[in-house]
This record gives sequence, C-alpha cells and structure tokens, in this order.
Amino acid sequence: MKKAEIIIKAKEFVKKQHQNDYSGHDWWHIIRVTNIAKAISIREGGNEFIVELAALMHDVADEKVSGSEEAGLRKVNKWLKENDVEEQIISEVIEIITTMSFKGGNLGNMKTMEGRIVQDADRLDALGAIGIARTFAYSGAKDQPIYDPDLTVRDHLTYEEYRRGKSTAINHFYEKLLKLKDAMNTEYGKKLAEERHEYMIQFLDQFFLEWGHDEKSI
Ligand code: ADP
Ligand code: NI
Repeated sequence: MKKAEIIIKAKEFVKKQHQNDYSGHDWWHIIRVTNIAKAISIREGGNEFIVELAALMHDVADEKVSGSEEAGLRKVNKWLKENDVEEQIISEVIEIITTMSFKGGNLGNMKTMEGRIVQDADRLDALGAIGIARTFAYSGAKDQPIYDPDLTVRDHLTYEEYRRGKSTAINHFYEKLLKLKDAMNTEYGKKLAEERHEYMIQFLDQFFLEWGHDEKSI
C-alpha cells in the first residue's frame, strides 16, 4: 500500500476511535495536531510519514478514548500491522504515543525528532484560544467548577492526583498549561507556544479582573 493510501485509511480508523469523546480529545483535536505537526516538520525536519501517522494515532491509547493505555496500544499495533506498515515504523509510532502523555508533572523525554514534533503539536493544541476552550469543555465533562477560590493550585502532582484529584478549570492553567511553553522541543513550536501563552495570560488577567480578585490571591 502507498503511504498516501495508508494515511487515508488511518484517518478513517482514528476518526472512529474518537467519535464519542467530549473531553477535548475529539476528532478535530487530532486534525489540528496533525496539521501543526506537519507545519513544524516542514521547518524542523523529521520523517513526514512517521510524523503524520504518529500525530493521527497519538490519542488512541489515551485511557479517556480507549478505556486503558494497554487496550489502545494493542489496537494501534494491530491496525498498523494489518495495513502493512513497516516493522520499524510501527515501533517508532508506538514508542512516540507511549512516551507522549504529560501524566502530571512527569514529562516523558521524546527519543526521536518525529516524537518531539508530535509532542509539541499536542501541547500547542492545549494552549491559546483553543486550549482555553478545551480546558472548559474538559472541566464541564468531568464535573469540575470553572473556578473556586477555596481550591488551591496543586504542585508536583502524581499521575493519580493529576487525573482524579479535585481541581478547577482555572487551576488547570497553573497546574499544567502555563508550564508548557518552557517544555517545548522545537524552535518553531516554542515560537507558537509563546504567542499562545501570552493570549492565555491576557485571558486570566481579564478573568480575575471580572471576578474581582487579584490573581496573586489564589
Ligand atoms: P494529554 O493529551 O497530554 O494527556 P490531557 O489528556 O491531560 O493531555 O488533557 C487534554 C486537554 O484536556 C488539556 O489540554 C486540557 O485542556 C484539558 N484538561 C486535562 N486535564 C484537565 C483538568 N484537570 N482540568 C481542566 N482541563 C483539563
Ligand atoms: Ni492529544
């Protein structure tokens, strides 16, 4: 099968996996991440086929999408094998999506250029106007409040606390999103992250102005 054909089939497969997600991991998240990853790859290198395949598959192994990471990885592995993707490409794609997730404060170090690109693209979709929208969508889906001044920002989260602890949409900016710009891998990714970071700072300033609080009091 030609690479272009594999990509078309991969899109059909991935779209199906994401069709019932309302936690910010819907199909359009995958499309945006894939597009940003390709834009970074044009400027920074990496194998375009691996970048695109890994970007498309990157959230299938998310427990929110497939129930568990193991089940998701098995699904991806099986699909890649059945569609005659080369063994070496399969192992790189699997390696990328396994390492990628943020998991609280425990940042995975990506081993390959393709991995660094896809990770940057995923982080960029958590920033800026889209990042703000996704954060409130996720919070609504998980019964979290918009903001509660009595819930303090949590630091150094374990994976369990990150996923299941009590938080708010606004606290999530401080617990994760505002840290991302300093964790970017690529130059182009960093530049985009800085713009999106600034936009979130403006949003938070305005939010607290309207709330009647000084940001420092949270
Ligand atoms: P990753 O895809 O890196 O594992 P997550 O699944 O943790 O990232 O989060 C994806 C998006 O969901 C984030 O960008 C954020 O907008 C939102 N999100 C995740 N956890 C929370 C949370 N505790 N509160 C609010 N939004 C969250
Ligand atoms: Ni993602």
